[in-house]
Amino acid sequence: MDGKIILVTGAAGYIGSHTCVELLDAGYRVVALDNLCNSSREALLRVEALSGRAVPFHFADVRDAAALDILFAQHAIDAVIHFAGLKAVGESVDAPLHYFDNNVAGSLCLLNCMRRAGIHHFLFSSSATVYGDPETVPIPEQACTRVTNPYGRSKLMIEEMLADLMRSDAQWVIGVLRYFNPVGAHASGMIGEDPRGIPNNLLPFISQVAAGQRECVAVYGADYPTPDGTGVRDYIHVVDLARGHVAALRRMFASGGGFTVNLGTGRGYSVLQMLRAFEAVSGRSIPFELVARRPGDIGICYADTRLAKELLDWQAGKDIHAMCADHWRWQSMNPRGYSGSVLQGG
Ligand code: NAD
Ligand code: UFG
Repeated sequence: MDGKIILVTGAAGYIGSHTCVELLDAGYRVVALDNLCNSSREALLRVEALSGRAVPFHFADVRDAAALDILFAQHAIDAVIHFAGLKAVGESVDAPLHYFDNNVAGSLCLLNCMRRAGIHHFLFSSSATVYGDPETVPIPEQACTRVTNPYGRSKLMIEEMLADLMRSDAQWVIGVLRYFNPVGAHASGMIGEDPRGIPNNLLPFISQVAAGQRECVAVYGADYPTPDGTGVRDYIHVVDLARGHVAALRRMFASGGGFTVNLGTGRGYSVLQMLRAFEAVSGRSIPFELVARRPGDIGICYADTRLAKELLDWQAGKDIHAMCADHWRWQSMNPRGYSGSVLQGG
């Protein structure tokens, strides 16, 4: 990759920070941008410590065109990986305009600035949420899209904007990655997911119960058409996911052309299977209570992973034992997330 320079937006976030480490390990140079609305500067200090490499940081919003123009004038960016966005489904229902502004208008602003700067390689964080409640599993990329909330709609709108952009100008090389359920943490325990307030997602909640910070996991629904009645998802280790981005970039620089690819493992696990796996690695008992379904949830979701293998020569390698063990190591080493660190800077 000849020391190519990658701008990572949302670099201080959960997936962004892990991807920075993998990019640096693969020999890329990284410039980070984040407005820290859902993250800490500390994450990037730890990325630098882990990789032994400097990561220039721009404290900026992707909707700030002037800041982006300055950044693109300062660094000879070869490609942009765009993680910056808001991701809480429930919050998006309450504040849809905020989500469209941050996610859709933010992406639009970034793409306009890239065009002005003559940068045309763009890798975008989409989500399996664009498939809604799938007709069949595993879900192939050509499955129907049917979003059910503003967060999902913001992702689909951006995907459609990107498709139009590629049709309009052959210079653009755009990869769309649809993530399934990222979990786990870097094996060092130095970086991981640091949710603010009550976690929305299953694994952070389970790990806080295991740590004694919360009393009990509410299992949303035991009447789904799954082997034990609880919801089934395609959990993917965040380090595998990060490496998927490195593979996608390699493909973009080597062959050009656009693609939309699922990043998952192709295997589904139920809520209770995840809970038991977490108990096994942590040695803690995790109390749970079966409660009603969470509104908007689907029963079963897992990826068809063949296109990722064929196009990107990538597949996930880490199993649920590694996902839970690494999540637990991060939780145990950082019981208060990044805010417990003496290096805390943001
Ligand atoms: P995260 O919240 O940890 O990271 C997002 C980062 O973007 C944060 O550091 C936040 O401060 C920053 N950010 C948000 N809006 C910004 C703005 N306007 N300008 C600059 N920075 C901004 O989330 P994550 O889990 O790392 O997710 C990264 C991306 O992947 C998001 O786009 C998300 O929608 C997508 N995604 C996540 C999941 C998941 O379950 N984690 C699943 C599918 C897709
Ligand atoms: N669950 C519980 N209790 C909890 C949290 C979750 O039982 O406290 C269950 C859910 O009902 C679901 C499973 O655990 O069956 C996973 O739930 P998550 O909230 O962790 O993940 P989702 O699949 O609901 O959603 C995630 C992201 C979305 C993204 C979607 C698809 O949060 O943003 O994956 O990528 F759109």
